[in-house]
Amino acid sequence: MTTSATEAGTPDIDVLTPVLSAGWDAERAWTLSGYGDYAALRKAVRMTPGEVVALVKDSGLRGRGGAGFPTGMKWGFLPPDDGGPRYLVVNADESEPGTCKDIPLMLASPHILLEGVIVSAYAIGARTAFIYVRGEVLHVVRRLQAAVAEAYAAGYLGPDILGSGAAVDVIVHAGAGAYICGEETAMLDSLEGLRGQPRLRPPFPAVAGLYSRPTVINNVETIASVPSIVAGGADWFAQMGTEKSKGMTLYSLSGHVRLPGQYEAPLGITLRQLLDLGGGMREGSELKFWTPGGSSTPLLTAEHLDIPLDYEGVADAGSMLGTKALQVFDQTTSVVRCVLRWTEFYKHESCGKCTPCREGTWWLVQTLQRLEDGNGRPGDIEMLLDLCDNILGRAFCALGDGATSPITSAIEYFRDEFEAGMHTPATELFPYQASTVFEGERV
Ligand SMILES: Cc1cc2nc3c(=O)[nH]c(=O)nc-3n(C[C@H](O)[C@H](O)[C@H](O)COP(=O)(O)O)c2cc1C
Ligand code: SF4
Repeated sequence: MTTSATEAGTPDIDVLTPVLSAGWDAERAWTLSGYGDYAALRKAVRMTPGEVVALVKDSGLRGRGGAGFPTGMKWGFLPPDDGGPRYLVVNADESEPGTCKDIPLMLASPHILLEGVIVSAYAIGARTAFIYVRGEVLHVVRRLQAAVAEAYAAGYLGPDILGSGAAVDVIVHAGAGAYICGEETAMLDSLEGLRGQPRLRPPFPAVAGLYSRPTVINNVETIASVPSIVAGGADWFAQMGTEKSKGMTLYSLSGHVRLPGQYEAPLGITLRQLLDLGGGMREGSELKFWTPGGSSTPLLTAEHLDIPLDYEGVADAGSMLGTKALQVFDQTTSVVRCVLRWTEFYKHESCGKCTPCREGTWWLVQTLQRLEDGNGRPGDIEMLLDLCDNILGRAFCALGDGATSPITSAIEYFRDEFEAGMHTPATELFPYQASTVFEGERV
């Protein structure tokens, strides 16, 4: 199934592009026999590590963990081999509200990730790779551990992969359920047995990461894309997507949509197209607001239905593609309530290392709670904006910055709802029952 970038730079999409998700409904897809024979690994070990890095660079693959950093370039930051250890760490901590792509991927197809891990570790010269999995998803940890055992038995892992002389070991590590451990340097501290808190940079992980050794950290979807690039070639991958955002990706569609779920499509597809694929909004629903990349990306509205969902298109609209978690809300949803729930999450998950985030998220919750209750005070909206202004750019890591995004964007688009919070509780304006849907019928 193919798509191609048109001359205008927008993708010509009439079909989905299942690559990562292609085998999800195969018989026992999570087993080695259900997956295949690691053809990309067989091809990769016949190439030099440098050739694999060049292939990934040429494909234009950008990190799928949120920031969209070019993967090949990240790998290229590693210093020359000094004979000591270097590591690959796969970020499988997926905890951003609305984001639900890595966990289904690992559950349905752990071997596509594992094959990507082995090829990537081979490319960057890492003898050991870690997969750091969100602690709550024990079923995923078990699937990964079973897949690793199968891969060792088949000779895809260990001291002499497929007789090539290359060696890679994989360790599956379960976190303890902290959102901050998805931040890559907090993840490294957590892996080392320390409390997971972000590290000061420089030094960057490429130079001094895990155990102070050169380390590459990549998202699950990023690494799982590598086998298809090795198998299909850089040009095949780069013909999907848009000029600067190449390839296919997993979009997580959730909320007031008929068929929520994972949609694998080329970068640059629009929300309108994805909603069409998802059967449209639910009965009686009109799109009110949505997040393009999880709750830490600024909200967008119905006027943004046709922006290309690639890194550039979403940035031009004033938001971020982030994790491509498209949470769709209809007219029955209180923006104030929704933003408060997200802010409670950020307050709870704030690691406490820096004052703007630790104190600021607490004050944000107090103020938003008053507005949700209809007890807002004059000046509360200005106070929210002032608090956000004092967190954004002053917090130690992106958790603090991200916590401000839904608030400032919600006030920009729906200031009247915040003003209504000075006198009317959100439950009166937007009763919970109005947005509850059972079996397609609104109650
Ligand atoms: C608070 C916070 C949580 C994060 N959580 C995740 C996560 O669960 N998974 C992920 O891949 N990246 C997460 N990131 C981004 C990582 O720090 C990092 O940029 C990413 O793993 C790099 O992989 P990529 O280049 O393949 O995108 C998080 C960042 C922050 C600030
Ligand atoms: S911004 Fe928040 S999560 Fe990040 S270091 Fe500061 S307190 Fe911790």
